[in-house]
Parts: sequence; C-alpha cells; structure tokens
Amino acid sequence: MPGFRLEQGALVCDGVPLSAIAAAVGTPAHVYSGAVIDERYRALDRALAGVPHRLHYAIKANSTLGVVRRLRALGSQADVNSGGELEVALRAGFAPDQIVFTGVGKTRAELKRAIGAGVAAINAESPTEVDRIERLAAAQGVVARVAVRINPDIDAGGHRHISTGHHATKFGMSVADATRMLRDMARRPWLHIVGLHLHIGSQITRIDPFVRAAETLVALARSLADEGIRVEHLDLGGGLGIAYESGQEILAVEDYARAVIDATRETGLTVLVEPGRWIVGPAGVVVTEVVDLKSQADGSRFIVVDAGMTDLLRPALYDAWHRIEPVAPREGELIRADVVGPVCETSDTLGRDRRLPPVEVGDLLAVRDTGAYGAVMASNYNRRPTAVEVLVAEGAWRVVRRRQTVDDILQWDE
Ligand SMILES: Cc1ncc(COP(=O)(O)O)c(C=O)c1O
Repeated sequence: MPGFRLEQGALVCDGVPLSAIAAAVGTPAHVYSGAVIDERYRALDRALAGVPHRLHYAIKANSTLGVVRRLRALGSQADVNSGGELEVALRAGFAPDQIVFTGVGKTRAELKRAIGAGVAAINAESPTEVDRIERLAAAQGVVARVAVRINPDIDAGGHRHISTGHHATKFGMSVADATRMLRDMARRPWLHIVGLHLHIGSQITRIDPFVRAAETLVALARSLADEGIRVEHLDLGGGLGIAYESGQEILAVEDYARAVIDATRETGLTVLVEPGRWIVGPAGVVVTEVVDLKSQADGSRFIVVDAGMTDLLRPALYDAWHRIEPVAPREGELIRADVVGPVCETSDTLGRDRRLPPVEVGDLLAVRDTGAYGAVMASNYNRRPTAVEVLVAEGAWRVVRRRQTVDDILQWDE
C-alpha cells in the first residue's frame, strides 16, 4: 500500500519503516513516497483527459533533483520561477520546450539564459520586461516565445501571503494593460506570442476562483483572436489545495478538472496547469526526534524536537497547520503540548496546543504533508545544516539530498 500508514504499530512509508530510515540517516529527515507522487500525478493527468493539456510541475514546491526526475519520468513538464530552478529543470532532463518560466523580476541574465535555451514560454509581467526580452532575443538572433501573465483581480481566499491573483499584488497585469501590451507585442518580430498565463494563489479550496480565472483567460483569448492575435495555450497556473487537517474540506481533483475542462474546451486551445503542492505535498513527511520535554511555571508544556523552522518554515511563515504524530505511538492518556524546534525564535513552533500520545525523549515524531514548500524553504539560520532528504521508491529508500555539514555552510565565509 502506497503512502504513510501505521503498520504493526509504527509509521511506514510505502512499506518501509520510518524508524529504519531515521536510524540510518539520522534526524531531522525529509522522507518522500515515490508511490504517492506517482499516484497523484497520474490522477490529475487522468482527470484532465477531456482537454488537450500539459502538466507543468511547479518545481518551486520541491526542487530536489530525485523528486523532479521522478516527475519527468511520469511525463510531466516543468514550471520554473528562477534561473536556479531553470537549471534544475534542465539538469533533471527536461527539454527546454517542456519548460515555462514565470516570475516577477526576472533578471537580464535569467532571461538571456531562458531565451537562449528556447523555453516553451517566458511568462512576461510588464511592458518593460517585454522590452528586455525583445532586446535580448534580437541580440541572440532568436525569436522568444512569450506568454503574458494576467492578474485577473480574483481573491482566491487562503493566507494573504500565498494569494497572488488580486489586483493589489505584484503579480501579472490587468486585462486592459495586457491587451494593450499584446497588441504591441504582435508587431514585434523577435517576439512570438504563445499563450496567456495566470496563477491566482496557492492552497485554494474553492472552485469559483478557478472558474472565474479560467473564464477571464478564455474571454481574453477570444477577444485577441477577433483582432487576429492567436495564442496556442492557456496556462491556468497551480493552486489546488490539499487537506492538511483530517476532514478538512478541499476540492476533489475531478471537480477541479471538470471546471477547467468546461471553461476551456470550446477554445480548442491546449491547457497548461502548474501543480506543485497538490502533487508532492502529501508525499512527504519530516521525521524528527524528541530532544527534550519541558514545562513552564504556568503549566505550558513543550515537546522540543530537532526539526525547526529552518527545516519547515510554513508554520512560522503562514501559521500553517501540519499534522504531527509519533512514529511509534505509545499507549496511554493523550498529553497536551506545543511541539517546538530548537531555533532561537518563539515562532519556531511546529504545532501549537497539540494532543498527542505520551512521548519520551528519543522518540520519533512525523510532521505530515511536508513534501511541498518544506525542504525548498530551508535555511541555515542559527548555522543549522539543512536536513537529509530520502526518497522511498520501488520498495527501497535512498538519499536524494545529503545532510549538510557545518563545514558545507562555512565554506562560503571569507
Ligand atoms: C507561477 C506559479 N505556478 C505554480 C505554482 C504552484 O502552486 P501550487 O503549489 O499551489 O500548486 C506557484 C506557486 O505559488 C506559482 O507561483
């Protein structure tokens, strides 16, 4: 059975005991289930079968090469948000024409590399960026494939830090501004307009923002076509949410796909989606060891673990909630405690006021659903080395990113 489950009283990943992995590689450790990645990628691909589509996995969610290569082998294409992620995609074996490149503030060096490589689309965000792309394309004698990122002014809900489709955010351009710019772009020989793009936010759990976003792109594609400006694809971005809490209401992937298909089918255009979290989020856990148990005078209790905000930033950054459970739950009355890391910040709290089976120093805990925006957001704050990453696949596990050492970190200091 794929995924994380209790077998004989202990958590396993695709049948491999997490305790065995921790004993071999130490903690904290990110552990990924290859089978869950496969299953979720295929489910989304199947759900979209009713429309010509391409899945461009959002590398920002988890950019570890072993994970990215697995997605490529499944047939995925790639969405990158920086020059670094572009190199990850190329090294993972994606052909340039399988890569779309998004981002506010792409540098000249990043644009030059993307144009030279011949990526499938550079999602442009402003007239001045388009000017830069044109000059760089002309200098290289290459026609750049450009899409335009629309800001549809949709509030998709969710945490304000991950909401990107509202007019007051820095992302994309209004339909009116984009239309003017596209008319102008259509006259420039070094630019080939390939598509329209948007991404309205992440961890979206309602259907209507997706529907309105898709309808906005479809309407714009139609009005452009009336003027003789034809695009090849509509890129609807990522954003599909997952259930971090058991019982949390989310969108079924089939409902999401049906809405996308219904909104876009009549255009005959290829639909691109850029899923990140939905594919890899539930495919990862952080395994961490309890290093201390502590009570304060006011009765507050703390389970201090060796993973902190440097390994999983989401709780500190977004107040995100992740399930936390013992790898081998003990019998006994539930305890109430905050699960905190070792970093010198009060925000270094992985879980507040949790009810857990009794734990002792040396026990292992698993923080669930950390496959997306987990390891990628790691930092060396407090000079803490980044954690090891392990992929379980085909019944065996292997390290896909080794644990940093303090020497690794210090090698950059002059
Ligand atoms: C442009 C773009 N595409 C795709 C994604 C992936 O989003 P998610 O992980 O919510 O699917 C993001 C992340 O915010 C993004 O910025």
